[in-house]
Amino acid sequence: MSTINAAVVESFDEPPHFRSVPAPEAAPGQEEVEVLAVGVHPATRGIAAGRHYTSPKTLPALAGADAVVRREDGSLAFVMPMGSGSLAERIVIDPASAIPVPDGADPAVLAATMNPALSSWTALRTRVPFQAGQSVLVHGATGNAGSTAVKVAKHLGAGRVIAAGRNRSRLDELAAEGADAVVQLTPDEDATAAALAEAAANVDVVLDYVWGPPTELAMRAVLGARTEHTRLLDWVQIGGMGGDAITVSGHALRSNAFRILGSGFGAVEMDVMHREFTELIAAIAAGGMAVRPHPFPLEKVEEAWAHQDDPGERTVILL
Ligand SMILES: NC(=O)c1ccc[n+]([C@@H]2O[C@H](COP(=O)([O-])OP(=O)(O)OC[C@H]3O[C@@H](n4cnc5c(N)ncnc54)[C@H](OP(=O)(O)O)[C@@H]3O)[C@@H](O)[C@H]2O)c1
Repeated sequence: MSTINAAVVESFDEPPHFRSVPAPEAAPGQEEVEVLAVGVHPATRGIAAGRHYTSPKTLPALAGADAVVRREDGSLAFVMPMGSGSLAERIVIDPASAIPVPDGADPAVLAATMNPALSSWTALRTRVPFQAGQSVLVHGATGNAGSTAVKVAKHLGAGRVIAAGRNRSRLDELAAEGADAVVQLTPDEDATAAALAEAAANVDVVLDYVWGPPTELAMRAVLGARTEHTRLLDWVQIGGMGGDAITVSGHALRSNAFRILGSGFGAVEMDVMHREFTELIAAIAAGGMAVRPHPFPLEKVEEAWAHQDDPGERTVILL
């Protein structure tokens, strides 16, 4: 039996381990591909810890949620097997799920950038009726997904993008990189609410990576300051860095043309994602929205899991 190297989740309480596993075999209609680079994203960690809605139901299981791969014909592609795993030298894919990667694109940069970038791209292109010229508040803009959201919103034609986050130096960088206004989220709730009200009262879309109590505060601030009550406000839940639940008052829902919705893998058809991500990959490959990869070899997967990324970087496993 031929074997390959892989990163295997054996317990939801431990990082994945470097192991030798049986080589995959493609069934009719499937394709065996070579894995080049895999990003270690919050979702990748959540899946391997049994905390994600796509976490495997049984263990052992392959770690990794997405990958840049080399196909049988030599071309590169991006795939998202999510809970089925991607962290092995070779995996089997459904060819229809392979999103083409342009020649010359750096697999490590794509592996680092795609997951953060697709969060806002999916939200703005498929979940809300976003139009060029509209204004967008990114709540939690200092992480990789939030920072990329500022650039994606601009790329898709946003007229005004407001970046709200905790890290002052990251906010200053975002202002230099295109954010039209920044709001610092601080422990001083009154000051934070006043700053959000001033900068974002009449936004059209909120891309929310925080949720939890900070979002309750931000919603109260924005809705309370709104002067155009019938102007549609779509508040899109994308990440949960500040908590998984919020309380919303009925008054908030009735007092403005206000909708709350989510954006994630469960909410969008695969053929729509395929079309949208083909365009997104081309935009990333063209430059201007890259997340910096922090590379580890596959045999150091446990070290990679323990690594805490600096702002603006993402752990990537190169095979
Ligand atoms: N739904 C989707 O399609 C999708 C796709 C990708 C990612 N996501 C989700 O988006 C979230 C962020 O992902 P990421 O890739 O950006 O992770 P990341 O690079 O690790 O960034 C997370 C950032 O969140 C900020 N943060 C943490 N707690 C916060 C709080 N209480 N208030 C404000 N900011 C807070 C921290 O920034 P500071 O320390 O600078 O404040 C941190 O850098 C995760 O929940 C992830 O699962 C969703």
